[in-house]
Amino acid sequence: MSFTVFEQAPARLNRSELAVPGSSPRFLEKAAQSSADVVFLDLEDAVAPDEKAKARKNVIQALNDLDWSGKTISMRINGLDTHYMYRDLVEVLEGAPDTLDLVMIPKVGTAADVYTVDCLISQIEAATGAKKRIGLEMIIESALGMANIDAIAAASKRNESLHFGVADYAASTKAATVGIGGPNPNYGVLTDTLEDGSRAYHWGDMWHYAIARMVVAARAHGLRPVDGPFGDIKDQDGYTAQARRAMVLGCEGKWAIHPTQIDLANDIFSPSEAEIGKAKAILQAMEDAKRAGQGAVTLDGKLIDIASIKQAEVLVNKAAQISG
Ligand code: GLV
Ligand code: MG
Repeated sequence: MSFTVFEQAPARLNRSELAVPGSSPRFLEKAAQSSADVVFLDLEDAVAPDEKAKARKNVIQALNDLDWSGKTISMRINGLDTHYMYRDLVEVLEGAPDTLDLVMIPKVGTAADVYTVDCLISQIEAATGAKKRIGLEMIIESALGMANIDAIAAASKRNESLHFGVADYAASTKAATVGIGGPNPNYGVLTDTLEDGSRAYHWGDMWHYAIARMVVAARAHGLRPVDGPFGDIKDQDGYTAQARRAMVLGCEGKWAIHPTQIDLANDIFSPSEAEIGKAKAILQAMEDAKRAGQGAVTLDGKLIDIASIKQAEVLVNKAAQISG
C-alpha cells in the first residue's frame, strides 16, 4: 500500500440512482415509494427555466412531508454558471433542514467549483445548526471536468461519488452522437481479411475511456463511481449491457431515468449467489494456504494469491452491505 491513504466515503448502497424532476409533485411522491437506493431530486436539466422556483418549493415540500426512510436523498442543483444555484442551496437547505444526505453538482469543471459549493453549504449548515453533514456527488460531464477529474475528486472532505453524465459529456466533447449512452455503429473495428475472405466489423464501446477514467479517479480518492443515464427507456437489454460493462469496470451503480430501470440496476450491481460462493471459496482456500505457509495456491485449476483475497473481500463486503 502507498503511505498516502484516502478516507473512504461513507458506505452507502448506490446500485440504482433514480432521477426525478423537482417540477413534478406526482413523480416525487412515486420516487419516495420506489426501490431505488439513492434518489436525486432534480432542479437542473429536467426542469424548465420558468419552473425553477416552483420546483424548489416542490422539493422542500417533498423533503419535509414524504417518507424517504431506507433511501439516500440527493438534490441536483443548477450549474455554477447559472443564477439559480445559490438559491437552490439556500432555499432548500433552509426550508428543509436536516433532510438531504447529498447535493449533486452538475457540469463540475474544476476543484474550485466544489470548493464554492462546499463553502456555501458549510455556511448554511452553521446558520441553521444542521446536525446532518451533507455529502457531495459530482457529475463528470464536460471535457473540462474530465481534464480536472483528480483535482475534483480530491477537492472536499464532503465528496462521496463521481458520476458519468454521458449526454452533456458527448455535447461538450463534440462527439458525433445524439443518443444518451449506449453504443454507436460508427465506433467499431473492421478486421483485416479473414481466412474465408470476409471481414468482420465489431462495435466498440465509445464510453469505455470515460467510465474507466472516472472509476480510477473515484477509487483513488475513496469515492463511489456511478454510471449515468441510458436514454432509450424501452431498450432494457441495452440498459443491462451498458450497466454490466460499468459494473465490470468497477462502478457501484447506474442512474435510472425511468422507474423501470431501478430493479435492473439493483439486480446487476448486486453480486450473484454464485459469485458470492466463489469469493467465499477463495477466502477459505487462502486461509488454508496461510496455515500451510503458502502465499499462492490453485483453486479449480486457477492460480489465486494474496491479491485474490482483496478481490474476494470486495464481493463479500458488498453482499453483506446489501443484506444489511
Ligand atoms: C447527465 O446529466 C447527462 O448529461 O448525461
Ligand atoms: Mg447533464
